[in-house]
Amino acid sequence: MKPLLGKTLLVTGAGSGLGRAAARLFQERGAQVILVGRRLESLQDTLQGATCMAIDHSDDAAVADLARTCPPLDGMFLAAGQLRTGTVESTPLADFEAMLAANLRGPWLMAHYLGPRLKEGASVVLVGSNIALRAIPDSAAYSVAKAGVHMLAKALALEWAPRRIRCNAIAPGPIHTAMVDARLAASPQPEEELARLMSVNPLMRLGKESEVAALAAHLLSDESAWTTGAVITIDGGADAVY
Ligand SMILES: NC(=O)c1ccc[n+]([C@@H]2O[C@H](COP(=O)([O-])OP(=O)(O)OC[C@H]3O[C@@H](n4cnc5c(N)ncnc54)[C@H](OP(=O)(O)O)[C@@H]3O)[C@@H](O)[C@H]2O)c1
Repeated sequence: MKPLLGKTLLVTGAGSGLGRAAARLFQERGAQVILVGRRLESLQDTLQGATCMAIDHSDDAAVADLARTCPPLDGMFLAAGQLRTGTVESTPLADFEAMLAANLRGPWLMAHYLGPRLKEGASVVLVGSNIALRAIPDSAAYSVAKAGVHMLAKALALEWAPRRIRCNAIAPGPIHTAMVDARLAASPQPEEELARLMSVNPLMRLGKESEVAALAAHLLSDESAWTTGAVITIDGGADAVY
């Protein structure tokens, strides 16, 4: 089955984690994939021979340049993001602004400049977070930025509907990637922190990159043609728990 056959898809954060797993799956399912991230070597390790663009997605001029050279697109999976932990009181303004830049300004600029490059019938998937739906005590700036991503998906779904372009956000719970490894490494009790992360969802485990990639592939394919403006949790059921 090649549900993405013939599509040209752009993936940000494609040098690791969810973006890398998704880019590989999209290619397996028939897509031509354009890889975007900050480190060229990591992008090249994701897929040999793919077009790689090493840019910071929060850099206005760099994203504008990317849009000038980008071919017409059938879709984008905007997975680039960063996590810094901290409460509102403990987070310095610079960290708050870094979280907004890495998680919200980036996808905003990608939509602003690359929107005109999207073909009629295209699909865009943004990556939010389940901790932008329910609060946890130590990730305030990140969660606030990701909540903005959820609303960005809804606004774009309305704006692009006349061109039959869809936009959805996914809201993952903890997935076993470098981002979660860094969080565990920073914890004074990594094993307890891992157990805590697993215990907050009824399925009692972390998610897998492949599971998120499969959801993104579905949302970028024509199989999901009537899904737009949605924020879809993929979190082992954590959002269902009171
Ligand atoms: N893992 C989870 O548990 C989880 C849960 C919910 C949501 N998410 C979200 O899922 C997305 C993917 O995260 P991940 O877990 O796969 O983490 P990851 O392995 O750390 O991947 C993040 C990617 O984003 C890229 N990136 C970061 N800042 C960038 C910038 N300013 N410009 C361009 N690229 C940038 C990084 O590229 P470089 O390394 O080249 O900078 C990296 O490839 C993120 O948006 C994250 O917030 C993750």
